[in-house]
Amino acid sequence: IVNQTKILINGEFIEWKGPFQDVFSPIYIQSESTNSLEKFKIGSYPIATNKESIRALDAATKAFNGGKGEWPSMSVNDRIMAMENFIHKMESQREPIVKMIIWEICKSVKDAEKEFDRTVEYIKDTIIALKKIDKESSQIKTVSGVLAQVKKLPYGVVLCMGPYNYPLNETFATLIPALLMGNTILFKPPRQGILLFSYLLDAFKECFPQGVINTLYGRGRDVTPVLMQSGKIDVLAFIGSSKVANGMIKESPFANSLHAVLGLDAKNAGIIDETANIDWAVNEVIQGAFSFNGQRCTALKIIFVHSSIADNFNKKLCEEISKLSVGMPWDNNVFITPVAEPEKPEYIQKCIDEAIANGGEIINKESGGGIINYSLVNPAIIYPVNEKMNLLYNKEQFGPILPIVPYYYPEEPIDYIIKSNTGQQVSIFSNNTENISNFIKSLRCQVGRININSQCQRGPDVFSFNGRKNSAKGTLSITEALYALSIDSVIATKDN
Ligand code: G3H
Repeated sequence: IVNQTKILINGEFIEWKGPFQDVFSPIYIQSESTNSLEKFKIGSYPIATNKESIRALDAATKAFNGGKGEWPSMSVNDRIMAMENFIHKMESQREPIVKMIIWEICKSVKDAEKEFDRTVEYIKDTIIALKKIDKESSQIKTVSGVLAQVKKLPYGVVLCMGPYNYPLNETFATLIPALLMGNTILFKPPRQGILLFSYLLDAFKECFPQGVINTLYGRGRDVTPVLMQSGKIDVLAFIGSSKVANGMIKESPFANSLHAVLGLDAKNAGIIDETANIDWAVNEVIQGAFSFNGQRCTALKIIFVHSSIADNFNKKLCEEISKLSVGMPWDNNVFITPVAEPEKPEYIQKCIDEAIANGGEIINKESGGGIINYSLVNPAIIYPVNEKMNLLYNKEQFGPILPIVPYYYPEEPIDYIIKSNTGQQVSIFSNNTENISNFIKSLRCQVGRININSQCQRGPDVFSFNGRKNSAKGTLSITEALYALSIDSVIATKDN
C-alpha cells in the first residue's frame, strides 16, 4: 500500500495532511470476514486544491523566468546530463514501478515491464534526437543576404497530463521532451496510474532545479481550471479524451491561440477484404483489438469484413479467442486481465444490450464471450454490427469487445472512415495489391497511419504518432515531440 503524502512544488515537498483520495485496484480480493469479493485498497493520494495549483504555477513560472531561469538557460549538454542522472535513478526503481503498474491498472507482468523498458528507451532516444537537433540549430546560415541563427527554444510553462492506460509511457511522451527543451513543468498524473509516480518524486527533486517540475494532485476538474484561466500555461500537453481536452482549452483566455499538443480519441477500423489471409488477419486482429483488454488508443475498435469470407473469418476468430487466457496480471501467459476503469464492466454490458436489441449477437458465447465477473470481462465478438448500435458502431469502447460489420463494396468501410470524427489509424488486410493501393489512395488523407496486413499500433516510437480530426493535434514521436514542445527563435542580421 502506498499512501502518497508529498506534493513536489518549487523543489520542496509539501507534507499533505489531508484530505486524501483512496486508490483501489481493479483486482477484487476475497474478504476473510464476508467471504465475498471486495475492492482492494492499494493506497491514497492528496486531494489538493486551487491553492496548491497556484503555488505550483507560480513556481514553474518563476523557474522559467521569461527564459532566463537556470533550467531554460542551461546548455543542452547540461540538461542532458541532468536527464541521464534521472534515467539512472528511474532505472533503480524499476521493480516497484512495474509492480504498481500491475496493481493500479492491471497490465500483465510482461506488459508492465514492457511499458517501463519502453519508456526508458524513449527517454534515451529523445536525448539522441536532441543532440542532433542542437547541432543543426547551432549553425549560422546565410540566405538572400541575411545571416541568421534559428534555434529551438522552450515555450515556457507546460501542463502535462497523461492517460491511465500508459500512465508512465504516455505521460513521459510529452513531459520528457518538454523538459529537455528547457520548459518548466506542471504535471498531473492520471487518477489510475498515479501511485507509481511516488517512486520518482525524489528523482524529480534531486535531478532538476527548483520549480522545474511541480506535481499536481486532486481531481482534474478542481485543480486544472484555475491554471487554464490564469493564461499562464504556455502549452497544454494532454493525452486523453477530446472532451476533457476541449473543456480545458475553453477555460484559457487564449483558447484560440493556445499551443496544445494532444493525443485524443480514436475509432480505428480494420478492413478484411475478400483476398485476405484469414489466419494471419485473425491473429493480428486479436492482438490489435484485445491487447491490454482493448484499452489502447491505437486498438482496433471496429472490423469490416467482406461478406464473402465473413463466416470463415468469424469462425476462426472465435476459435482463437477461446484460447486466450483470462485471469490475473501475474498469471502465466495471461492475455485478458481485469479492466482498469471501475465503470467499464457496466458500459460493456450496455454495448452488448444495445447490440442484441438491434439484431447483433455475441458469436463467441459458447466459450464465455461477454461474461462479466466483477472487473474481469471475457472478450466478446459482436456480429453483425450496424449503425443502429450507436455505442459499438460510433463510440470508442476502450474495452474487450469487438464489433464486426460485414461489407459488400469497398466504399462501405471507406465511407465509414471518412465520416468518422476520428482519424488516427486503419488496418487493411488483403493479398491483392490493387485493392491495397485503392484503399491507400482513398484513406491516406483520412488517418495518420495505414497498416497493411498488420494491426494498428504506435510503435516503433520513432515513427510519427499523430492523427486527423478529433484524434490528435501535433505529432508525438521522438524528434517531432521535441519540435512540438519548442518554438523557433530567429536571430538575424544583414550579411554585409
Ligand atoms: O494508447 C495509446 C498508446 O500510445 C498505444 O501505444 O500502440 O504501442 O500500444 P501502442
